[in-house]
Amino acid sequence: MTDPLALAQSAAEAIAKATQVAQHDVALVMGSGWADAVSALGTPSAEVAMKDLPGFPPPAVEGHGGNVQSIAIGDKRALVFLGRTHLYEGHGIEAVVHGVRTAVAAGAKTIILTNACGGINTEYRVGEPVLVRDHISFTGVSPLAGAQFVDLTTLYSPRLRTLAKEIDPSLKEGVYVHWRGPAYETPAEINMMRIVGADLVGMSTVPEAIAAHALGAEVMAISLVTNAAAGVTGEKLNHLEVIAAGKAAASRMGILLRELITKL
Ligand code: HPA
Repeated sequence: MTDPLALAQSAAEAIAKATQVAQHDVALVMGSGWADAVSALGTPSAEVAMKDLPGFPPPAVEGHGGNVQSIAIGDKRALVFLGRTHLYEGHGIEAVVHGVRTAVAAGAKTIILTNACGGINTEYRVGEPVLVRDHISFTGVSPLAGAQFVDLTTLYSPRLRTLAKEIDPSLKEGVYVHWRGPAYETPAEINMMRIVGADLVGMSTVPEAIAAHALGAEVMAISLVTNAAAGVTGEKLNHLEVIAAGKAAASRMGILLRELITKL
């Protein structure tokens, strides 16, 4: 088996060659529905299909584009991943974190993870972005192997959360649960999550945050509440609604991300 960090290094070299940018400063992973926020970030100077880079499996979900863009934002160079690999796709945990490992190998010191999620906390409204303050892993699957006892006390950078709230004081924070999926949760499972202190639930972000932090990157995660979690309103959950909520909130999200990157 290829060493995962060596594979990430070779993907980073392929990105440097394809984009003609030797080092990127920051990477963004755009989750379900977040693709439309990208246009507010700026015009990409180059775009590479993930399938043309070492180690990336083909995308499986509608709304996940599967390419990587290089965008100049202020004096920063951003590497923007449109699409990600999820645990439920069955490619294994190494594939799930290959993108963020590639981003760090490409020079990124800051990793911004975005996602679509269900709102467990009834204070959140659909279409509202929420900063991830902490997480609970309900998959129990770690991207780390061996005796790497990485501290996760400040996994979701307090500095970056403060910066985001300076830009948008209305931003709330919450605890995100990683659910493997691909089925959404049952109402009973959502009730359990609420009892253990969760505010948000989704199928991504957590392994990527851990892998990026373990490599020394500063991590921020921001969730777009695309629906009330199962059983909260009695409505059924629908992937197309998740995508539509993302489209509706896209420009607000793009402007926030852009301002944040210029202030890093
Ligand atoms: N649960 C899990 N993942 C999700 C949800 C949800 O309700 N909405 C968007 N992604």
